Amino acid sequence: MKEMNRTLELIQERSSIRRYKDTPLSEEEINTLKRVALATPTGQNLQELRYAFVTDQKIIKAVDERCFYHNPEMLERMKKRDADSIFYGAPLVVFVSAKDTSWADADAGIAVANLALAAQSMGLGSVILGLPRGAFKPDDPENCCALLGMEEGERFRLSIAIGHPDTTKEPHEQDPSHIRDFLV
Ligand SMILES: Cc1cc2nc3c(=O)[nH]c(=O)nc-3n(C[C@H](O)[C@H](O)[C@H](O)COP(=O)(O)O)c2cc1C
Repeated sequence: MKEMNRTLELIQERSSIRRYKDTPLSEEEINTLKRVALATPTGQNLQELRYAFVTDQKIIKAVDERCFYHNPEMLERMKKRDADSIFYGAPLVVFVSAKDTSWADADAGIAVANLALAAQSMGLGSVILGLPRGAFKPDDPENCCALLGMEEGERFRLSIAIGHPDTTKEPHEQDPSHIRDFLV
């Protein structure tokens, strides 16, 4: 088999990291990740995605608490994972939000995938997070939308926790039967 290049290796090596060291990310690392976010392609080039880069642990805690308020079982689930936060103590969380467009959710998925691979290439770990959605329910007057500067009509789409890994995890098992071949 032809040797894999570094990008292909990073794609295969990435896995979800659920424990982080306290070490903060440098300003340069955060700026690099911001440029990665802004390079995300969006359907029709609508560029509707907005990114909240958060290192303020008070904000992260507020999102945690609103999620646990709506779903107390989640805290129990986290405890089983030896965590007390759905962000697993990561020093940086990027929240991706957008007003409704046909492609907002797909675009957000691409954004966090790019961020995950970029983080991996920088020697950092990450985990893509959908659970924080619970803190941004549109019908909850105490939701965390305003806390993250979201505008009217903007909705949480996905987030990603990024930091220096304090654990390792094998990537998920791949099932080749999930590919359907129509190759000639
Ligand atoms: C859209 C999406 C949402 C996810 N949400 C969460 C989450 O809220 N909490 C969590 O611990 N992991 C979350 N994950 C991580 C998945 O559980 C993980 O990617 C999957 O188990 C495969 O493991 P791997 O990433 O190590 O290959 C999410 C992943 C994706 C793609």
